[in-house]
Amino acid sequence: MADLSITVNGLKMPNPFVIGSGPPGTNANVIGKAFDEGWGAVIAKTISLEAEKVINVQPRYARLRSRESKEIFGWENIELISDRSFETWLDEFKSLKDKYPDRVLIASVMEEYREDAWAEIIEKCQDAGVDAFELNLSCPHGLPERKMGSAMGVNPDIVEEVCGWVHRVAKIPVWAKMTPNVTRIEDPTAAALRGGADGIAAINTIRSVLGVDLKTLRPEPSVEGYTTPGGYSCQAVRPIALRICMEIATLIREEFPGKTLSGIGGIETGNDAAQFILLGCDTVQVCTGVMKSGYKIVKPMIEELSAFMDEHGFNTIDDFKGHSLQFFKTHAELVELQAEARARKKAEHDAKQMIREDAQWTGDDFVDQSDALARG
Ligand SMILES: Cc1cc2nc3c(=O)[nH]c(=O)nc-3n(C[C@H](O)[C@H](O)[C@H](O)COP(=O)(O)O)c2cc1C
Repeated sequence: MADLSITVNGLKMPNPFVIGSGPPGTNANVIGKAFDEGWGAVIAKTISLEAEKVINVQPRYARLRSRESKEIFGWENIELISDRSFETWLDEFKSLKDKYPDRVLIASVMEEYREDAWAEIIEKCQDAGVDAFELNLSCPHGLPERKMGSAMGVNPDIVEEVCGWVHRVAKIPVWAKMTPNVTRIEDPTAAALRGGADGIAAINTIRSVLGVDLKTLRPEPSVEGYTTPGGYSCQAVRPIALRICMEIATLIREEFPGKTLSGIGGIETGNDAAQFILLGCDTVQVCTGVMKSGYKIVKPMIEELSAFMDEHGFNTIDDFKGHSLQFFKTHAELVELQAEARARKKAEHDAKQMIREDAQWTGDDFVDQSDALARG
């Protein structure tokens, strides 16, 4: 039976399934529920020092469904970070750690571009007992208007500087959460790791416009008839998340050995998780999947990942982490590989046709062999 337990940046988890920052980690009640259901770790909803500046609208979600099965596969949100007060969060972090001392609780934090603000939020949360941090440098809507979130994440110099500020005061592991809304993910990733982050989390949502209602002619989600571009998640983003994780994992292997990666984006099953781990992730996060199916999905996810591992004879997550990275090449290398394979096949075929002694005649290739002897 496969062993799913892992230790990532010194954090011991019973399995690699982590609640991603968002509604499934939005207060102590639901975080407790996630621990009770068996999630390996929980990342709380992103918090900031001044919750009173955070004002949400409704509706703030819009969803894309399959034409046939009607299953939701795309999800846009224009939700902001937590609107609950920082003091309330500190109390809840303390009470959660009292109740679940052995479980991994990660605070997701975001602040304005000021060293003192980042130092304060980090110091107070770690005093409240959280086990690690995820820096939200990646929310693509609302917060960038205050120069926060992805406004920082798209700028490698700022990413390095902010990670450096955090590194100076953090005594616990720090992951930097990346925005996919950049051309080269390697640039902010390397900047975060140079700044002192212990790991990377990717991806946050992809900037999107979900659609336009053809009756009202208004884009969705429609707030008093108007909208603003939001963040796209759910199954539809998985191929993009896989590509980005592959690029980050390759960079970590080559230039930052020992740093970790938490994969996020459209993960809903154990087989989805297996693919992220094969591409180099240490852990996997789930946000929209929990909003679609509830906290209980972790059980079938664990079962499916275990079955995958048993089928391949993998005893631990480390046995297959990053295994499939070796199968990526440049396009030019694919052309070369294919030319070599075709030449090899032709040589094998030609060799088969060549009759040097009567024992080489085969029933299957009889006509081709006769033709070959006529060609000389
Ligand atoms: C409604 C909603 C709210 C979210 N809020 C946050 C947040 O507060 N902080 C954050 O870092 N990511 C937030 N996210 C992004 C998710 O953590 C995750 O990176 C993204 O949705 C992709 O993963 P998924 O397809 O499993 O949802 C939110 C996503 C959704 C759908």
